[in-house]
Amino acid sequence: MKTKIFHIDSDPIDDVIQTSATIIQQGGLVVFPTETVYGIGANALDKDAASHIYQVKGRPSDNPLIVHIAEKEAVSLYAKELSCDAKKLMNAFWPGPLTLVFKKKPIIPNQITGGLDTVAIRMPSHHIARQLIQQAKIPICAPSANISGTPSSTVFKHVYDDLNGKVDVIIDGGQSTVGLESTVLDVTQSKPVILRPGAITKSMIETILNKAILDESTVITDQTIPKAPGMKYRHYAPKGNVTLLEGTHKNIIKYLDTQDNTIGVIASNELCQKLPHSHTFPLGPLDDKSLIAKNIFLALRTMDEKNIASIYIEAFDDQDLGKAIMNRLLKAANYQVKQL
Ligand code: TXA
Ligand code: MG
Repeated sequence: MKTKIFHIDSDPIDDVIQTSATIIQQGGLVVFPTETVYGIGANALDKDAASHIYQVKGRPSDNPLIVHIAEKEAVSLYAKELSCDAKKLMNAFWPGPLTLVFKKKPIIPNQITGGLDTVAIRMPSHHIARQLIQQAKIPICAPSANISGTPSSTVFKHVYDDLNGKVDVIIDGGQSTVGLESTVLDVTQSKPVILRPGAITKSMIETILNKAILDESTVITDQTIPKAPGMKYRHYAPKGNVTLLEGTHKNIIKYLDTQDNTIGVIASNELCQKLPHSHTFPLGPLDDKSLIAKNIFLALRTMDEKNIASIYIEAFDDQDLGKAIMNRLLKAANYQVKQL
């Protein structure tokens, strides 16, 4: 398949949106930028279009897709019940990086929800994503735009590497600003449950709801059936072997001193500055977790591009946004952590 490429810096925006929306309406696949990561979009009401996404990504069919909408009002077309909590959270955080899980209406095909009786819905804030959904006049289901199991794509080049020739359109919208996928929150029960941590943190949600919520994003074992089916699969893994390093900068530097110069290191600016190794990726200063989050997937994929076999990553504290950062890093490392 020949993939049409658009660059929003140079192509007329009306043409980009019109052409892409028509392709979605015809059952095609369009990769588009969002504030979190790039998504592979299709008509969320068309089971065949959705099945095509699973095929292109190599994604297990029991892992459901998020339905993206452009207006808050559209939720009630697809969700059975809107709790008070859900309404408060939609008002506080939409548009933005929060996905809410509702009981679904029959209009949403079972293929999209992996057979679950719930549907995950999100209203992205990225202007291209919003205009595309508005112009298509249909909800768009979209998983992250990467081959299943590899790190999500936050820049055009990585989308292109994975998906050129496999989708109808790719829209280059520059680097995603958040860099980690949305928070997934189940609001079908009286106590909402975080299924995947993201930029909308537990404490931000609790402040709006004025009550404690649950976080089930970490209790994933082979014995339990996770509520977000996607969380049981190996994720975010680059080709190289990843090890997280937990300890003081002094101890990490001492340990890395014993390694040869072929290793790759992904760490804070402060740590990278003190390292003699050739392949370092500074994520940002330690006090800027948003920048660190934004650069994580870019860093993992950059190590792959350089064919680095051993990748060491600084472990960060898991407070607030650190929770989502460490969730992705632990998965990328297959939970391999070295205490120093
Ligand atoms: O930021 C994001 O959410 C990005 C952009 C493109 O919007 N999308 C994304 O999609 O990360 P994906 O498919 O890579 O991850 C969706 C996650 C999976 O862990 C999936 O299991 C969970 O959401 N999920 C989807 N529908 C669900 C449902 N009905 N119940 C529970 N979890 C659900
Ligand atoms: Mg994904």
